[in-house]
Amino acid sequence: KTIYILNGPNLNLLGKRQPEIYGHETLGDVERACAAVAEPAGFEIALFQSNHEGGIVDMIHEAREKACAIIINAGAYTHTSIAILDALNTFEGPVFECHISNVHKRESFRHHSYISPRADGVIAGFGTEGYALCVRRVCSLLGG
Ligand code: DQA
Repeated sequence: KTIYILNGPNLNLLGKRQPEIYGHETLGDVERACAAVAEPAGFEIALFQSNHEGGIVDMIHEAREKACAIIINAGAYTHTSIAILDALNTFEGPVFECHISNVHKRESFRHHSYISPRADGVIAGFGTEGYALCVRRVCSLLGG
């Protein structure tokens, strides 16, 4: 049972990018923290990042065959992408939306998410810890 953790544009720079907002942990640190929660519960994680909208769509299509759940931080595409919403709507398992920062405390253009209507849960403002919290939720939901 594999949980896909999908990350959108600029998240490859996590740890270096605006650390006052996104912190000092890297995507590699996130991957390790998520695996530490998933593995004892009998789940594997597969973490991906793309700076391209279509790359994220492709990863969601792959998830249709290979993943039991999706955790997605679509970055700025959260606020713009109908294509990512459409792709998520083809996926049958649980979907959790994760934002490192509290998007609701920031600019108004970050307040709307195209992804939230498909999300079974949303986490925002828990820093990079939010990813592992989503993993914990998937594990309890899917009875790992
Ligand atoms: C983000 C918030 C988005 O508004 C922003 O464009 C990001 C990261 C977050 O994790 O807080 O790239 O999704």
